[in-house]
Amino acid sequence: MKKKIGIKGVILAGGKGTRLSPLTKATNKILLPVYNKPMIYYPIENLVRAGVENIIIVSAREHAGNFINLLGSGKEFGAKIEYTVQEEPKGIAHALSIAEDFVDGDNVILNLGDNIILDDVSEEVRKFRGGATIFLKKVDSPSAFGVPVFRGKEIVAIEEKPKRPKSHYAVTGLYIYDNTVFEKIRTLKPSKRNEIEITDLNNLYIKDGTLRYAYLKKEWSDAGTFDSLFETSKMMRDIAKRQKRG
Ligand code: DAU
Repeated sequence: MKKKIGIKGVILAGGKGTRLSPLTKATNKILLPVYNKPMIYYPIENLVRAGVENIIIVSAREHAGNFINLLGSGKEFGAKIEYTVQEEPKGIAHALSIAEDFVDGDNVILNLGDNIILDDVSEEVRKFRGGATIFLKKVDSPSAFGVPVFRGKEIVAIEEKPKRPKSHYAVTGLYIYDNTVFEKIRTLKPSKRNEIEITDLNNLYIKDGTLRYAYLKKEWSDAGTFDSLFETSKMMRDIAKRQKRG
């Protein structure tokens, strides 16, 4: 009998973290506080909310032990958490490829560790039938992100950190892929900054005609710079206070 295709979660916590130095000299960016929680709690909570039960954390070798100390088996989050190492920061798509054996033929939902997502995407996970699903958010300065190029309602390309963005949307750090993702990553060549780029991967799905998109409705943040880390902490404090007041 054929195995039913499930979904596995991957959280990326590798990378160089140079943008936040000296905060990241002795620790990993994703372990830094965002208001009252370590940053990595948010992607875990996002995946668990989406119905994902098995999650792997991909980190650099020197920080792997800290993630295990913090998160253990994942029991307190209602998930099963495993750990693996990216020996060198060779790009986001490269880090995802390390999880191939763990994903084991299932679909995969990837959450970049510094992306704070508050929407409930369980419906998108439930509806997923193959190809790729990306999540967009309208932003003031799209140049810092992957930016979709639209023809009508269709995305015809994604440009990575374009100087002159062709839309007002950021491609956020949350992606759902079918299992062809690993074959696709194997065909990618390193970019000018010597990384296997997630945007190149998404463009392969566009070429295949199998990339879908959805919009995030709630607040979204990439907490990877001093300003966005600070703003995200403020945002989470405001949300916590609002919730307390009921
Ligand atoms: O936040 C969304 C943006 O994330 C997208 O709009 C961009 O298309 C995408 O390239 C990415 O851009 P960033 O410049 O924010 O990526 P960064 O290098 O900060 O990496 C994001 C996370 O992925 C970070 O938390 C660490 C992890 N990472 C990164 C690299 C390069 C790894 O685990 N391994 C790596 O080799």
